[in-house]
Amino acid sequence: MHRRLSPPVAARLSAATADLPGPLAVVDLDAFDANAATLVQLAAGMPIRIATKSLRSRPLIERALGRGGFEGLMCYAVREALWWARDGHDDLLVAYPSVDVPALTELAADSALTRAVIVMIDSVEHVDFIAREVPGHEGLRVAIDVDASLRVGPAHMGVRRSPTRTPADVEAVIRRAQERGLVVAGLMFYDAQIAGLPDSGPAMRKMKKISDGELRTRRAEVVAAARALADLEVVNGGGTGSLHVTHLDTSLTELAAGSGLFAPTLFDRYDALSLRPAAYFAAPVVRRPGEGMVTAYGGGYVASGPPGWSRVPSPLAEQDLSLIRREGAGEVQTPLEGSGADRLSLGDRIWFRHAKAGELAERFTEFALVSSDGGDRVVGRAATYRGEGQCFG
Ligand SMILES: Cc1ncc(COP(=O)(O)O)c(C=O)c1O
Repeated sequence: MHRRLSPPVAARLSAATADLPGPLAVVDLDAFDANAATLVQLAAGMPIRIATKSLRSRPLIERALGRGGFEGLMCYAVREALWWARDGHDDLLVAYPSVDVPALTELAADSALTRAVIVMIDSVEHVDFIAREVPGHEGLRVAIDVDASLRVGPAHMGVRRSPTRTPADVEAVIRRAQERGLVVAGLMFYDAQIAGLPDSGPAMRKMKKISDGELRTRRAEVVAAARALADLEVVNGGGTGSLHVTHLDTSLTELAAGSGLFAPTLFDRYDALSLRPAAYFAAPVVRRPGEGMVTAYGGGYVASGPPGWSRVPSPLAEQDLSLIRREGAGEVQTPLEGSGADRLSLGDRIWFRHAKAGELAERFTEFALVSSDGGDRVVGRAATYRGEGQCFG
């Protein structure tokens, strides 16, 4: 049984990392492992492909991969997949279309790499691009990203990604890919309107239910049509926020998840998710602009997505501090106000959670790994992609 890192979390994290300079990023390994177990339980026997963009740390990705229930990596760049493949990994699905011609050419030129990596396409336009730009493209393995958004009249709920939605659309892409010598090895359906939105109220819950029903029917039809034309190794669907429904769809062969391992603030309000915050960062107090205020060094690690206050880092509530609305989280310094300010001295740490998961790793070269079970101490370090000199956008 894992012990939850109970308040005062900030004081405990500060004590555990007192010997390390700040700003610093931390992963609580006990929370990370507990989250991994929760995701596997939600997937109910369906393997989970790890969304690497949501971790961006090789040792932590490998830690999850070493557990039962996780199989294969969902990469976000072809160059990233080549890096993993050369490190000995052979089940790599690149989830986003790429126009990185040198990387695609490198992949096509090496049959061992081609066996390890599937790249994403979503249209005849992609097929023609690869056929035109990538020498030796014959034999490249591709998967088709199928639009999983919900359309109700003119309303579109979900992400704007693939133009390919119906069985006929998918058949047309498969036929063109096969004509051009590509091997169609998979399909992917990412239901962002279910997986990526918190359960903020009854209307949201209703929309998710309708979308799940619509997708269950359409996915089965699309997969059946594709299987009539191609040997599919992979039919991927879902994300952290939809494992609890996508695992029920027998047309899928696997699920995807990543963010749930870190449990950033955007995943706090999902009915089906009971995760523990596992990733934090600390910014040290460097000045005191006035009574009831402190300014920390660093902190402006704002998440991608629609801009707004849900995307900024959140100071842990127990510190009684909040961001100043006019300044937000700053490029080099972040001012905070509240009753906690006058309890802090220069050099003390303010602990935050990021709004999203993997983006935090782009700001640090490593995570300090702490164990809350093991007496709140640093038990290791995990390099981020950035710390390994890797940057895939
Ligand atoms: C294609 C795809 N699958 C799955 C996911 C889910 O990832 P996570 O579990 O980190 O939310 C995403 C996230 O954006 C995605 O783009």
